[in-house]
Amino acid sequence: MDFKLFTDQLAHADQDCIIAGVFKTTKDSAQSPAFNSLDTATGGQLSDMLASHDIASAAGKITWLHRPTGINSPRLMLVGCGNADEFDAGNFRKACMAAGKALRSSRAASAVCALSELDVSERDAAWTLQTAALDLAHNDYLYTRTKKPGKNASPATDEVAFISAAGDTVLAQAAAIAAGVDSARHLGDAPPNLCTPEDLAEHARQLADSQEKVTVEILEPEAMHELGMHALLAVGQGSANPPRLVALHYRGADGDDAPYVLVGKGITFDTGGISIKPGANMEQMKYDMCGAASVLGAFEAAVRLALPLNISCVVAAAENMPDGKAYRPGDVITTMSGKTVEVLNTDAEGRMVLCDALTWSSRMKPAAIVDVATLTGACVVALGHHASAIMTKHDSLADELFSAGQHTHDRAWRLPLWDDYQQQIDTDFADMKNVGGMPAGSITAGCFLSRFVEDQRWAHLDIAGAAWQWGKNSGCTGRPVRLLTQWLSDRCG
Ligand code: BES
Ligand code: MN
Ligand code: ZN
Repeated sequence: MDFKLFTDQLAHADQDCIIAGVFKTTKDSAQSPAFNSLDTATGGQLSDMLASHDIASAAGKITWLHRPTGINSPRLMLVGCGNADEFDAGNFRKACMAAGKALRSSRAASAVCALSELDVSERDAAWTLQTAALDLAHNDYLYTRTKKPGKNASPATDEVAFISAAGDTVLAQAAAIAAGVDSARHLGDAPPNLCTPEDLAEHARQLADSQEKVTVEILEPEAMHELGMHALLAVGQGSANPPRLVALHYRGADGDDAPYVLVGKGITFDTGGISIKPGANMEQMKYDMCGAASVLGAFEAAVRLALPLNISCVVAAAENMPDGKAYRPGDVITTMSGKTVEVLNTDAEGRMVLCDALTWSSRMKPAAIVDVATLTGACVVALGHHASAIMTKHDSLADELFSAGQHTHDRAWRLPLWDDYQQQIDTDFADMKNVGGMPAGSITAGCFLSRFVEDQRWAHLDIAGAAWQWGKNSGCTGRPVRLLTQWLSDRCG
């Protein structure tokens, strides 16, 4: 989907479809500018329909009109925006996502989108344009790796022209971010027999090949052994698909500027290992590499945005399988840091692969490290599917990530990482154990990770609830690519 700006008269647009917002009418409320100009062009037809309740104005409701008189475009999509005086980022996104979904199934090859000119409370024109573009592109996504679109599938929309006071640079930025989100979703949705640790490595190689300022480093098990990454190796040792540590480095700033490092959990399938998971819904554990997918996606977006920063992206990729060679409960493993871990549950594998990736990443002397992981079911219990969890001891870093989430509406919420929780992972047989019991399961996982980044400016994002949807609109959400990309953009000063 390509983006451009629309500057003509709306009624004269020759695109296949016009997308315009409609607010609930109250005594003295204003309608959207597009609604008003189209209403005039149709000789008042739209306001008549609205008065007789034939146009839905609740946020996210769609009304299609065909060949309205006085309008050149054959179709008009009216998108409910709710009350004009409550038009915030949430309702705006509801409208844009609904419009995107309707556009995706409409067979329109081109469209004009007027939602991007609306006034959204506490947001400027650039935000509104970028968000509209990203939300339409989000709905344009179609998974194709193992299913080709059928003969009757509705084709993607080639081009959308937006009405906005903001400029072309915003659209170029939106296209860069959309590409990162799209890549993340393709990786996330790929099945675990194809999306193996080596497949993630291959994705990274191709990204490095296509971008001048990007280099790639792939560690295979032999190199991991030499470095002492026995925790990452332990998780992978039960699988026929050997683990990989994948690193991408982008030099957008001076050679010696400290890099921002994103670390992703890349468990390409999580059976639980010897502490095997119940069978029901186990297929969802193909999404256990969504942390990796999102850091790769955010990295790609940052490179496409040509951010003047040094950025590295590190993926700890392994498959967690039960096997004669698999690691087991009771094992004590020496991590790359030298700290020992007693394994009490092989299903707490995410923290095992991440601890070595964090130790390895710390050697880059980063300006900040943020790891992203579908780490705990407890996070879904705590925050549901609406927010990622932020855990860090660094208030300023928490604030940066929180505001990037608020700004992009790819929201995150902080959980405490107080030292009081640390004793839950103490054990007599090693420096720590890999589970902390029932209370505060997400936080004790964060505590575990914190022990490997003691002198680093580090934060952990648990995306177990945000990374994918099941049932309606199922699939990888591409979160938190928007949050991470915003956070990196904000670092450019
Ligand atoms: N990948 C899972 C976490 C998960 C579960 C994410 C459900 C999304 C939905 C992780 O590896 C895991 O199994 N965690 C265990 C930890 C426990 C053994 C301490 C969990 O959450 O049950
Ligand atoms: Mn697990
Ligand atoms: Zn897992």
